[in-house]
Formats: sequence, C-alpha cells, structure tokens
Amino acid sequence: MEGKILIVEDNESQVEAFRKLFMDSGIQVYAAVTAGEAWDVLADETMDVVLTHFRMQEADGLQFLKQVREKQPGVYRMLSSGFLDDSMAFRFVSSGLVSAYVAKPWDLEQLHAKVEHIMTVKHTLQEKKLLELISSIKELPSLPGLFQELLTAMESRASMHDIAAVIKKDPAVAAKVIHVVNSAFFGREDISEVEEAAVYLGVGVLKDIVLTAYFIDRRHWAPEQIDHLKEIFLHSYLVNKYMSVIFKTLFGKTLGRGEASLGIVHDIGKIILLQHFPERYQAIVSAAEAGGFYQQELDRGYAGCTHAEIGAFFLDWWNLPALMVETALFHHTPEKAGADGHQRTLLKLLQYTDRLVNYVWYRRSEKAHDLSPFYIKNMDGQVIQRLGEELVEQARSAEKLFARLI
Ligand SMILES: [Fe+2]
Ligand SMILES: [Fe+2]
Repeated sequence: MEGKILIVEDNESQVEAFRKLFMDSGIQVYAAVTAGEAWDVLADETMDVVLTHFRMQEADGLQFLKQVREKQPGVYRMLSSGFLDDSMAFRFVSSGLVSAYVAKPWDLEQLHAKVEHIMTVKHTLQEKKLLELISSIKELPSLPGLFQELLTAMESRASMHDIAAVIKKDPAVAAKVIHVVNSAFFGREDISEVEEAAVYLGVGVLKDIVLTAYFIDRRHWAPEQIDHLKEIFLHSYLVNKYMSVIFKTLFGKTLGRGEASLGIVHDIGKIILLQHFPERYQAIVSAAEAGGFYQQELDRGYAGCTHAEIGAFFLDWWNLPALMVETALFHHTPEKAGADGHQRTLLKLLQYTDRLVNYVWYRRSEKAHDLSPFYIKNMDGQVIQRLGEELVEQARSAEKLFARLI
C-alpha cells in the first residue's frame, strides 16, 4: 500500500516509533514539530493523512486540523492525545472535524492497521473508473450551505435556539421540518415552531431531515424518476429506524450520535446514480428482481463502479464523517471494512437490517411473513416477527412522510 502521512509531534521517540512502523511499507512518513513546519510540508507535498497531537507546540491541534480541513479538505485528519476523554473525542469525530482519534499510548499494531486501512479506502475512492464516472457528471452535486452551517453549529454545541435560527434562514426547509414533525412517522400534530421541532426531534434527526429534504426536492427530479426516489427514500428511512431498534434490542443501549444517521446515507450513491445516470439506474433496477440491486451491479457491471463507491466518494468529498464514508463504501461488503470491532458490528447490523427491510417490503401484501431466515442469536424470534409486522405499518407512515417532503 502506498501513501503519504505527516505526523506533527514534538516527542522525538514517538516520531521514531512511528517511522519504524512504516519502514518497510510503501507509506512515506513526514514529520513536523510545529504547525508552521507542518504547513511548510503541506505546501510542498500532497498528504493523504495528517496525524497531530492534541497539544501541539505553540498551537492547538484541533485548530490546526480545522485549518487543514479548510485548506486541504481531501486530507484524512487524525488526532492523538493521552488525556482527552472519550466523549470529547467522540464529539470531534462525529462532527467530521476529526476523521479518527487515536488514544495514547499508541497500540502500534492497531495504529499500523488503521493507517493501512485508511490508505486502502483512499485508493478505492481514487480509482480510475470511479473518477471517470464522476468526471462525466456535468454539475457535481454539492451539499447545501445550510447543512454545512448546521454541522458547524452542532460542532460548537450551539443552543437549540441558534440551531433553529440556522434552519429558519431557509423558509422552505423550515416549513418542511414543521411538516415532517407533524406526520404520523414522528407522531406529533401540534408543533408549529422550528425550535420546538428541534427539541422534540433532537439535533441528529433534524440534520437528517434537512439533508433528505434537500435531496428529494421536487425541482431536482423528472416525474418518471420520482417512484424510484420514493423506493430509495422508504428503504433508507426504514433501514435507519430499524437499525436503531435492533441495536437497542441486542445491546440494551442506543446508537451513538454520529451513528444514528447511517441508514439514511448508506444508499446515497443510488440517489446520485438515479439523478445523473437514469438509464443505467433503470437498467440495474430492471435486472435486479432476483439478485438485488447491488448484485446486479457487480454481475453485469452496468455502472462500472457500484453505488457503494459512488456514495462514499461524495460523502468524502463533502467532508462528512469518516464513519459515514466507510459505511457507504462497505455496507454490502462488511468483511472488507477495517479491523475496528465496533464499526464492523455496525456494518453487519446495517446489512442485516437492509435485507430484513427489503424482504418484508417486497412481501408486504402477504398477510403473515415467516421471518425465520432472519432469526439470529441473542434475539427472540417472536421479537423479529413483531418487528416485521410493525415494519409494514411504518412503511405506510414513511410513504406519507415522503409525500410531505417532495
Ligand atoms: Fe446498498
Ligand atoms: Fe440499502
């Protein structure tokens, strides 16, 4: 594996240990002590990864990474520290400011595996056929400025009042938020203020709605695309919802903040395919009956690359959290994901939920579903049966929600 990594660290022995770790690999290690030195390196060389200590000499590691994100958004940003508590680190990672956090003292073997994995992901997203496909898109989809502002507000832990103020800047989005919260899917009928909606839904869900509202804006779609869009939307919303439900049932706790939207974004590559390559999309769907969309892409190679790669490319390009990028990339191939145990659990759960949702969805007109093929360890079969029945109901609410959003 080839690549370039810059380590910003004033502890010489750590730098040495790091260099040694990659001595026999294709990964080139550059080192700097101060932020000034780091910028000198970054001016001359294109880095794949920057790893900095939280407390830099004469500077703040987080501030430095913020500037790296602004000036060179393609660089993977790693933060290292021996004293940062997990919840703080988690906040930086889930907002996307930091791509990964490594606690000190380093576990060298893990660190090595992590860097190798990052390079693999980067190479996948820079593959020629993918770049060719992307460069054939005339106008690249961009993220709405409002969504970026929302992420920044969340990053700085803004109050609900301030978050509502960001949303109100776009009256159409504000109206959609009110519409959506007052739908059967979210179970309210009496909310008339964005701030109230924000408190009720929570910032994470609010962010999902803003993103979804943007993608399914009627202005972006031809009438014949809308049915496909609806399928993707229903699928993604149901997968998102049931991924949380099943996680809670299995592990007795809720998904973390940055993890509760993974279902929403996992198939975003399909939306991009549908928008920019509608004939290809249609061809895959027409052939997909037996094997499913992903299998058809792989078997027949309609798109040259998969919706998983396309989705991951854009999530990365939009600078969204690394977990989102990797979830999109590996959601059909969790076995190819990195060694991080928790991430693998999430991916496997997503894959399981994805199949369950599709299975129930395509048999929704049948009265009783036999879900025994989905019985798993640590979960009562009856619970799974019940989820299946509830899913059909939820799909109806989600259909109404879609009608409100479009
Ligand atoms: Fe998928
Ligand atoms: Fe999916």
